[in-house]
Amino acid sequence: MAETANKPGDTPRGTLAIRTVAMPADANANGDIFGGWVLGQMDIAGGIAASERCRGRCATVAVDAMTFHLPVNVGDVLAAFAEVVKVGRSSMTIRVEAWATRRMSGEQVKVTEGTYTYVAIDENRRPRPVDPDTPERMET
Ligand SMILES: CC(C)(COP(=O)(O)OP(=O)(O)OC[C@H]1O[C@@H](n2cnc3c(N)ncnc32)[C@H](O)[C@@H]1OP(=O)(O)O)[C@@H](O)C(=O)NCCC(=O)NCCS
Repeated sequence: MAETANKPGDTPRGTLAIRTVAMPADANANGDIFGGWVLGQMDIAGGIAASERCRGRCATVAVDAMTFHLPVNVGDVLAAFAEVVKVGRSSMTIRVEAWATRRMSGEQVKVTEGTYTYVAIDENRRPRPVDPDTPERMET
């Protein structure tokens, strides 16, 4: 049966940035995956999108509007999708969604979403400008 927190026909928004498996070591004593682990995976995904956008080093400066829709279970495949929604002088706002593919059913459900802000930084860790005309992604 479909999990109720997701709307029928919902699909991931953004570009697939990472996929990984939720392991027993990522769970608490009850066997539930830590929210912090999910946030960390999403930070990695958003960081990839931001780093591609600014063509280099960046740092996470803020995490906002996090919503945990559904739990992640051990054995689920977690996929994080990232989309650049705003570029400032040195900052980049990235919307990140985490989707879990359930190990037993194969169903894909949105588990968490939020907004991450990154700042492009130079070799001295100081903010540097982001080129407004650079394409969002590097060619692969
Ligand atoms: C990122 C960092 C270099 C920015 O330095 P800063 O002195 O705050 O720089 P500024 O005040 O010039 O702000 C730089 C940009 O960040 C934005 N910014 C700063 N704090 C922000 C916040 N809380 N939320 C959203 N944007 C923020 C500013 O609006 C500015 O954007 P713009 O250049 O597009 O206009 C500094 O805050 C830092 O090193 N933080 C720690 C980063 C880190 O270690 N992250 C990993 C955590 S484990």
